[in-house]
This record gives sequence, C-alpha cells and structure tokens, in this order.
Amino acid sequence: MKPIGASEAADRNARFPVGAAITIDQLTGDLHPTLKRLRTTEPISWLPAIGGWLVTDYRTAVEILRDPVRFTVDDERFTTGRVVGPSMLSTDGDEHQAHRRPFESMFRRAPVVEFTDAIRRTARQLVTGFEPDGGAELRTAYAAPLATSVIASFLGFHDGSRSAAAEAEVDQRLLSAYRTIVDTVVGLGTGTSQPGDAAGAMADLGELVDRAVRHGGPMAELADRDDVSSDRLRSNIAVILFGAIETCEGMTANAITHVLADGAAVRRFRTGTVKVDRVVNESLRLEPAAAVVDRYATAEIEFAGPAGPVPIAVGDLVEVSLAGANRDPSVFVDPDRFDPDRAKVGQHLAFARGPHVCLGLHLAKLQTSIALDVLLEELPTIQLDDARSTPPRGHIFRKPERVTARW
Ligand code: HEM
Repeated sequence: MKPIGASEAADRNARFPVGAAITIDQLTGDLHPTLKRLRTTEPISWLPAIGGWLVTDYRTAVEILRDPVRFTVDDERFTTGRVVGPSMLSTDGDEHQAHRRPFESMFRRAPVVEFTDAIRRTARQLVTGFEPDGGAELRTAYAAPLATSVIASFLGFHDGSRSAAAEAEVDQRLLSAYRTIVDTVVGLGTGTSQPGDAAGAMADLGELVDRAVRHGGPMAELADRDDVSSDRLRSNIAVILFGAIETCEGMTANAITHVLADGAAVRRFRTGTVKVDRVVNESLRLEPAAAVVDRYATAEIEFAGPAGPVPIAVGDLVEVSLAGANRDPSVFVDPDRFDPDRAKVGQHLAFARGPHVCLGLHLAKLQTSIALDVLLEELPTIQLDDARSTPPRGHIFRKPERVTARW
C-alpha cells in the first residue's frame, strides 16, 4: 500500500477539519467529548493523528465489522501476525474460519458456565488474601491476577494436581511471554522492535503449550485434531492470551469502578434487584476495554457523510471506534449515563461484531460478573477511594491505572 501523497493529505485535512485537529492525547485520556464531537460533525473522519479514518457512529461501525471482504484485518501493518504467525486475529475468509473453528466449541456458553466454581474459587482466594479492615488497589491486586489465572486454567495450563505455587509460577511465565509478545507487537508499529525480539517468548509459550498437551485436557484435544498443526495451536493460543489478559483486566477494573461509584448500583447488586449481566453489559458499553479495532480497505468505498461523500481508498486504515459507537445516541438514549436498566443494554460493540466477534466473550463476562459478586459479598463495607483512583486511559486498550478501595 502506498502512503497517500501530500496534496491528497492536505485535501483530506481540509475536508475533515475536526478530525485534522485531533491529537492522539485527546484519543487517549477523556476521549468521550472528542468522540462525541466527531460523531456529530464527521462520523467518518480522516485523522492525521492515526494516519487513517476513524468511525464513531454505530451503524457504519457495524457495517464495517460485518464486511471482511471490503474491510480486512489481513494486512502487514497489523503487526500481531508478524510476531505470532498467522492466526484467527490476522486472517479473513476461509483461512480465518480454519484458524477459528477448532477453538469455538470450548468457548461456547455452556462449557464456559461449567467453569463458574473454578473462577469463584480463584476470586475468593484473592479477596481473602486482602487485609481485613484495610484496602487495596484492585486493578493490580484483583482484576489482573484473576484474568491471568482464569485463562491459564481454562486452557489447561494449570494441572489440577499441582500446588498453588506451581500454578502461580506457570501464570508468571505466561505473563512474561505475553508481555514480551505485546511489547514487540507494539514496538513494530513504532519501529522500535523486530519480530525476532519475541522469538524467546514464543519458544517459552510453545514449551508451556507442549506441557499442557502432555497433561491432557483441552489443549490435548486441540493438538489431536487433524486441522490444528503445532504452529496453528501456538499462534492461536498466543492471540487467545493476547485477547484475554489485558482486556479482562481492564473490563473487570472498569466494572468495579462503575459499580462502586454508584451507591444505588451497589445496593441493587447486593439485593439482587438488578441483573448482574445488565450491570456488566452497561459497563462494557460505557467503557469498552478494547476501544478501537483496525481494518484495511480492500476496495474504493464511498460512504455518505453529513457534509458530502466520504471516499475511502484501497489500503486505507479504517479504525472503528467501539467506544464511540457505544455512545451513539441514535441507539443508546442519554449515552453518557451508567444505566443498567437501559433498553438495548446488550447491543454494545465492546466485543465487536461479524466474523471476528470476540471468541472469549462468555468467559470474559462470567469472569467479571463473578469478580463483582465475590467482592461485594466478601467485603460488605467496600467503598471506592476516589482520591486514590484514576479514570480509564488508553487509545486501543482502556483501563484505569488505579482502582483503590477500602473496607
Ligand atoms: C476470556 C477472555 C477473552 C478471550 C479468550 C478473548 C479472545 C479473543 C480472540 C481469540 C479474538 C479474535 C477472534 C477472531 O479474530 O476471530 C477476540 C476478538 C476480540 N475481542 Fe476478545 N477475548 C477475551 C476478552 C475480551 C474482552 C474483555 C474484550 C473487551 C471488553 C474483548 C474484545 C474483543 C474485540 C473487540 C475483538 C475483535 C477484534 C477485531 O475485530 O479485530 N475480548 N477475542
């Protein structure tokens, strides 16, 4: 794909003045006023700050997510594939199906629900480790270790016969491999890393996968399939970890903040007068932990915009703002309010739509529901410490740095 020329860039900047003035900082901190301005004036806008189009209205967002033929993920600028190899996250069409299909059945709702007790046990262990009559920063002390432990255990990296210390060691190895892979993926985008920088981490992950295969369980079943080669197993396990760790940590941290900040929500949660699923969905709508997803145009496409046609060229980056679409007032009335009773609460795009819809959405929702439930049950006097908590931040992944609570 050739970059657009200077005159074309100037022309786009002139046609999309609101987008042209936006900085990456405005898309990282309190981004909602910026997204609202864009949605109102330029719902599909050219943003030099991201070098692509940003889509903030719900209808266009869904249209793009459901159209992998014209809006693909299969592009070398999508750096994950260059680090972990081809996987479901970086392919489309038949190849995507071939990567994704073997993993689908284990992530369906029914097998995930069977994991309820295991998640509850882990959440309880973490909470009972807190000092009584004390406090903690719950993103790092609760949401993050829960996220790693749940996915490690769900995929069979934990062998039930081993000690808690051995499980914690596996979690640390997975986390360390994961962090190197993420840093390398991010560094490729900014020119500060090479795909090979993650070779050691991919090898370590491969060793943990081989060990999990030997233990039997879900990984052994996957490895047994004719359509799952060892490379395919590793790359897709890497993207599953990639999908599960950071996002679940953010999702749980955001949900804890939303609930604790709203006294009525805490009371209703405790008395069972609001469905947990509604609370979790509303939190996902208001602050999706993955705020944007990227696509690349494979054809010339023209959308209708409020100020005339919006011409997208072959190869253009099209960033879909899930955070923006989730506050589109044409779908969600009074969109900036946390309101678990709202109509269409489950229609948010936090897990995307279309062929790449989040594989782990049932597990993620179950995990956050249990995390909230255990916290409010075990710590009856819990309160958010506003002065020592921070709002969510991040352009791609969004989470608060600190969710401090006392009890
Ligand atoms: C157990 C936890 C999770 C697992 C195992 C998981 C796994 C995955 C995988 C493997 C994909 C790629 C699917 C494909 O390309 O076909 C995916 C996509 C996605 N996931 Fe998750 N995920 C989890 C949690 C979350 C959470 C908490 C969020 C956000 C709140 C999230 C948001 C997304 C989004 C937006 C996509 C679409 C990516 C795209 O279209 O480019 N995921 N997830």
